[in-house]
Amino acid sequence: TGETATTQQQQKIVNVAHRGASGHAPENTMAAFEKAFQMKSDYIEIDVQMTRDGEVVAIHDTTVDRTTNGTGFVGDFTLEEIQQLDAGSWFDEEFAGEKIPTFEEIVDAFRGKIGILIELKSPELYPGIEEKVANILMERNMHLPNNNKVIIQSFNHESVQRSKELLPNIPHGVLAGMSWADVTDEQLLEFATYADYFNPNRNMVDEELVDRVHRSGMEVYAYTVRAQEHADQLFEAGVDGIITDFPEYVYDFSGLN
Ligand code: G3P
Ligand code: CA
Repeated sequence: TGETATTQQQQKIVNVAHRGASGHAPENTMAAFEKAFQMKSDYIEIDVQMTRDGEVVAIHDTTVDRTTNGTGFVGDFTLEEIQQLDAGSWFDEEFAGEKIPTFEEIVDAFRGKIGILIELKSPELYPGIEEKVANILMERNMHLPNNNKVIIQSFNHESVQRSKELLPNIPHGVLAGMSWADVTDEQLLEFATYADYFNPNRNMVDEELVDRVHRSGMEVYAYTVRAQEHADQLFEAGVDGIITDFPEYVYDFSGLN
C-alpha cells in the first residue's frame, strides 16, 4: 500500500536473506548467497555448525538428510566427507553439485560485498564453536570496532554471551522463539547487557513489543518472512529488519535516482 511504502521510505528496513535467498536457490549454499547479493540484500543469514574434524560449515538442520543426498549427523562427517554431498539437487536439478560451504569460504567470498548474520546453530552440540568462529573473523581483522556488517546470533543465549566476550566489538543478537512471547522488560534489559538485537519469531511481533525492545536499547530483526503480507505487517509494527526467504519483499527506496 501507499501507506506502507511511506513507512518504509521513512525508516530504511534492513533486508536479511534467510539462509541466503532461499526462496530462489538451495538454502545455505553459495548459489543462495550469490542470489541474495544480486538481489541487493543487506545481509545473508547463515547457520553454522561443526564437522567431526572441527571445520565450521553452513547448514541448517543438525542432520544432512533434508538438504543433501546423504544421511546422518553433521557432526559425524569430516569436512572431506560432507563436501562430497550434493546440497543443491533437492531444491532443483538446476543446482545439482552445490556443496555445503565452509564458513571461511563464505566470509572470503562475501565480506565487503554484503553483511553476514551468523547464527550459531545448536552450539551445545559443538563445544568450542564460538572460539572457532571468533578466530576466523579475527584472522581477517573483522573483529575491530565499526565493523557493522557482521552480526552473530543464536537461540542459545549462553552461547551468545560467550561469543560476545570473545568479540566485544561485534554486535550480537538473541533469537527468541515463541516461548519468549511474554518477554518482560526486565528480561529485555538483561539481554541488552550483552546483545544489540532481539530477533523474534514474527508471530510475536506487534508495535508494543518493538517499542519495548527499542526502549531497552536493542534493535529488532524479525524472522522468518515468507509472504509479502507478513512483511508489510512487520513494517507497520516498526521492525528494523526482516529475515526473509524472499528479499524482494523489502522495497528499496535508496535506489531512487
Ligand atoms: O535468523 C533467524 C532464523 O533463521 C531462525 O530460525 O530455524 O530458520 O534457523 P531458523
Ligand atoms: Ca537460521
